Amino acid sequence: TDPESQSILDAHEWMTKLYHHMLRNSKEGKNALQYLLDRGFTEETIQKYQLGFSPTSPTFVATFLEKKGFHPQTMVKAGLLNANEKGEYFDRFRGRIMFPLRNHLGKTVAFAGRSLGDQEPKYLNSPETDLFQKGRLLFNFDLARSSIRKSKTMVLFEGYADVLSADQAGIGNGVATMGTSISETQAQLIKRYADRVIVCYDGDDAGTTAAAKAAKLLKQTGCQTNVARLPEGLDPDDYIKKFGGDRFEREVIEASDPYTSFIINFLRRNYNLQLEGDRIAYIEKVLQEIAQLERAIEREHYLKALAEEFQMSIDTLKSEVEHLKAQSN
Ligand code: GTP
Ligand code: MN
Ligand code: MN
Ligand code: MN
Ligand code: MN
Repeated sequence: TDPESQSILDAHEWMTKLYHHMLRNSKEGKNALQYLLDRGFTEETIQKYQLGFSPTSPTFVATFLEKKGFHPQTMVKAGLLNANEKGEYFDRFRGRIMFPLRNHLGKTVAFAGRSLGDQEPKYLNSPETDLFQKGRLLFNFDLARSSIRKSKTMVLFEGYADVLSADQAGIGNGVATMGTSISETQAQLIKRYADRVIVCYDGDDAGTTAAAKAAKLLKQTGCQTNVARLPEGLDPDDYIKKFGGDRFEREVIEASDPYTSFIINFLRRNYNLQLEGDRIAYIEKVLQEIAQLERAIEREHYLKALAEEFQMSIDTLKSEVEHLKAQSN
């Protein structure tokens, strides 16, 4: 590690501890702590994830880091401070709940700060550095590792809060991206460490669309991919808080759909199946998905369902799939 990166790592280690201390012990952090407890996060989770609070004073961190001898310019690069034109330094994160973002070695390399009220942005992230590249890191991968090894499965969530809630409910193999869509590097990381992945995004349009994209990439990367369904308007954290972890495990995780099932359903939204033209276009689209399946038994399964739904002969559909397969080879 070069000296600058080392200094950024050291500063993040100090700040993880200091923010956590401010959440646990300071008068200023009381509201933030109460907010987390009200949301159902336990003391144990707060401890395990080293959640913190950034005081509202504009120079709380600046003063602390200066005393410790950190270069202010390096701290600006690290995203802990901002500088103004006069060369004065101010804290970047103020009055926020701090989520340390750890790398695979468990070192904090960045923060996500959640606002307490309705202030925008809801989540403020550190900027990218050599140590923190959003497309290369999976939130919670370090802690999830042993659970991933045992289950050979990873659960991919949209949000940090979902990962924490799931872990609290006994599902320790959850990871999340940094609010960005999943990158190829992240998909390969998942593939390397797990045989199976369950995409478990929010139950809204944005979540479903993002899940379709993520699942497609994961499938292409060679992961056995399932997609979980959540009731409209709920995310995994909401669901767990509302219905409990056991129901989440049984009715969301275990009931997740294999990729092809999910995508066949997802594609429907683009067509009006009352219209003949749309119906045919939809069937063709589904056949393209089926043609990509490796196993004949799987192809047969989906072809049968399609044949039944649209009252077509399975032989016609099968020959179409064979044709598509021949084309792609
Ligand atoms: P809570 O409201 O705390 O439960 O958050 P959430 O986990 O439900 O977050 P949401 O579904 O709104 O967003 C999912 C993820 O997107 C978050 O964990 C963040 O990584 C990211 N995100 C959400 N809002 C913002 C934002 O305003 N700015 C940025 N940069 N990222 C965001
Ligand atoms: Mn949002
Ligand atoms: Mn969301
Ligand atoms: Mn959410
Ligand atoms: Mn949420």
